Order: sequence, then C-alpha cells, then structure tokens
Amino acid sequence: MTDTSSPAADQEQRARHTAARFREVYGTEPTGVWAAPGRVNLIGEHTDYNDGFVMPLALPHTTLAAAAPRTDGVLRVHSGDSGGDGQIAELRLDALRPASDGGWAGYPAGIAWALREAGLPVGGADLHYDSTVPVGAGLSSSAALEVVTALALDDLYGLGLTRQRLARLAQRAENAFVGVPCGIMDQTAAACCTEGHALFLDTRDLSQRQVPFDLAGEGLRLLVVDTRVKHELGDGAYAQRRAMCERGARALGVRALREVRYAHLPEALDRLAAQGDARGDGPGDTPGAGGPGVRAVVRHVVTENRRVEDVIARLDAGETRAIGPLLTAGHASLRDDFQVSCAELDLAVETACAAGALGARMTGGGFGGSAVVLAEEAGADTVAARVTEAFAAAGHTAPRIFPAVPSAGARRLV
Ligand code: GLA
Repeated sequence: MTDTSSPAADQEQRARHTAARFREVYGTEPTGVWAAPGRVNLIGEHTDYNDGFVMPLALPHTTLAAAAPRTDGVLRVHSGDSGGDGQIAELRLDALRPASDGGWAGYPAGIAWALREAGLPVGGADLHYDSTVPVGAGLSSSAALEVVTALALDDLYGLGLTRQRLARLAQRAENAFVGVPCGIMDQTAAACCTEGHALFLDTRDLSQRQVPFDLAGEGLRLLVVDTRVKHELGDGAYAQRRAMCERGARALGVRALREVRYAHLPEALDRLAAQGDARGDGPGDTPGAGGPGVRAVVRHVVTENRRVEDVIARLDAGETRAIGPLLTAGHASLRDDFQVSCAELDLAVETACAAGALGARMTGGGFGGSAVVLAEEAGADTVAARVTEAFAAAGHTAPRIFPAVPSAGARRLV
C-alpha cells in the first residue's frame, strides 16, 4: 500500500507539539525547535568512503529537537518516539567517553563530545526529540538525530558552524564515539539538502551542487520501498567492504578509489589480477567470512562513480526518465559485485521493473533497508501494488511504500 500522507504538511504542528512535550518533560521553556531530515540516495552507493560522488535527497520525514541550554555542564536527552525508552538520560559533558552509552542517547552525546573535542565552546543542554524518520530502514535516522542535535547546539552556543563542518563533526561523532565507520553522505544530506533538489556531492572536498529534481512536474514519482528488513551498519559487513576498498586503493597505489578513472578500469583490474594478494573475485580472497574480492569492489566503486556522472548529465539535459536504467544497473553492481543486497531488496527491484518502473535500486548501506523506484506517476500505484503482492507471495513482511518528495535539509523551525 502506498502511504501518501505528507509528513511535511504537519511540520508546524509537530514543532508546537515537540515544544509542548519539552515543557512537560523538563518544566521549562525551550529556546527553539530544530529539524533534520532522513534521506534516500538516488545514486552513488558505497562511494563516499572512497572519496567519490553521491546524490542523495532529503525526505519529508524529520527528527525534531526542542532544546534549551544549561549552565551546569549536563546534557539531558529525552525521546518521545519509539527510539527512546521514555526516560531522561542525563550525562555530564566532561565525563563523555566514546562508546560510553550504547543506546540512542549515544548519538546526541557523541555530538556534544565531537564539538568539544574540536575545541568548540559547548555547554550543557536539555533536548527533547520527536521523529518520523523510520528507524533501521536505511533512511539515515541516525544522521538526522546527529545533525539536528549539532544544529541545535550550534544555535544555542552561537558556534557559527558551516553546514559542511557540521556534517564532518556529526560523522566524527558516529565514527569515533558511536563506533560506526560510516562515510560522510548521510550527515551532509541531512545538513545540506534543499527542497526540490537532489544534492550532487563530491565527498572528497564536500563541494556540492543542488540539482533540480522536479519529479511531480515531469509526471514522475520516486517511491521508497522499505523492505522492513532491519539494516545494521555496525555488524561488520560494512566495515569489511570498506576495508576491501582500502586494500584495492593501496594495491593500485592511489589514495582512494575515486582516483581510478572509468577509462582505466580494465587496466586497474588487470593490475589487481597480477598481484597475488588482491587477485580474486571470490570469497577465498576475503579475510573473514564471505563477501566480494578486491577486484569486484573496485569494479563497483569505479562504475558507480561513473553512473553518478551519467545521472547528472541526464538530469542536466532534462532527460529524467533516462536515469532509470542507470539506477537499475547500479543495483546489479551492488548485488553482484559489492554483494550488499538481500533477497527482499532484489525482489523489490525486479518486481518494480517488471511492473513497468523506469528503474530501481537498493539505497543506503544495504543488507536490508530500502529500495528506490522511479516510476511514471500514472503507473506508480500499480508498481507499488505489484511489489506488495510479490512480498506477500514470497512470505516476506509487508513492505512500507511511500513517495520520496525531495525536501528541505536541517533548519530551525521555531
Ligand atoms: C550508509 C553510510 C554512508 C554510505 C552508505 C552507502 O548509509 O552511512 O556513509 O557509505 O551507507 O553508500
């Protein structure tokens, strides 16, 4: 079933509600209410930690934070949605240590820690959160939580952070405090996306371009298919793929795989084949259990960067429908070369394409989470219905399907 409700429409009401909950929880007035969105990535997967290109867009689903400063060096966090346990978590800023809190409060704590580690004058705060970003669906609920916290603290303490710096600090919190080795895409998407656009981001220097992405105006719809298969970045497979990419870069004598140009890919693959330690595509080449070999991950990253450039070229030429096959080719590469898909994601992509979608692919880290499907507006409901039927026939949990309307990045609401 397609959920067509618009979480953006009730943003103002949610901001009021979040402020009211803050008053109930803390008994004081919040200084303001901030928002940061979840995201889907249109193209450019597992390229960000290779200094490559990505193209995310912000979802209308947001995490809101009502916040006020404190003068006693204490951070208190409370969540009104299922991510929290209803309790106020209370943390002393000077006692924050990486991975010192395993739960969701580790994300806001990590932000305060990262800001202070960077020498920024951040004091305590009370924060109350309310989120509509699905958790564990590969839609970057963690980055939304991090970025909204960083933005609130930035405003409360007048830090004057640029959006790029804010994203880097949020990534630092996730890498070093929470302990997830993610790249920079999700935090930058939450911090920098704008309504009606996809964000073309060069993850090497965070240079970026807002690319108009007016789906409705072109009679198109981008669907998100949340497979309901829980996506976990911390389970080792993500880190394993990252390590293989780094191994490939070392073997090729480059700082990051981004430097391997598409035209030089056959040559690079030959060089890897000639090297004893990095030759195979099969599981035997991988330290630990399973997963792709070095040549396969190199091939994915290099071709994926090329697909991002091709998508940009099509969009710049006004040929939005022509990006469909590039999305589907990206999925095949993630499934076969990078090996981060799963049965439910493959089923969603195959069924959507067979039902007339222009293109489809998994989005985000993989191993579950969500797919994106580009469809004609007129056929989108049929595509969604076919995917839902196929999941039922295969005995999978019903997917959650909704339109990805390119929405605003992080901002202050009140
Ligand atoms: C996760 C990570 C990102 C990126 C994607 C894959 O979402 O957080 O940094 O690596 O996976 O493209």
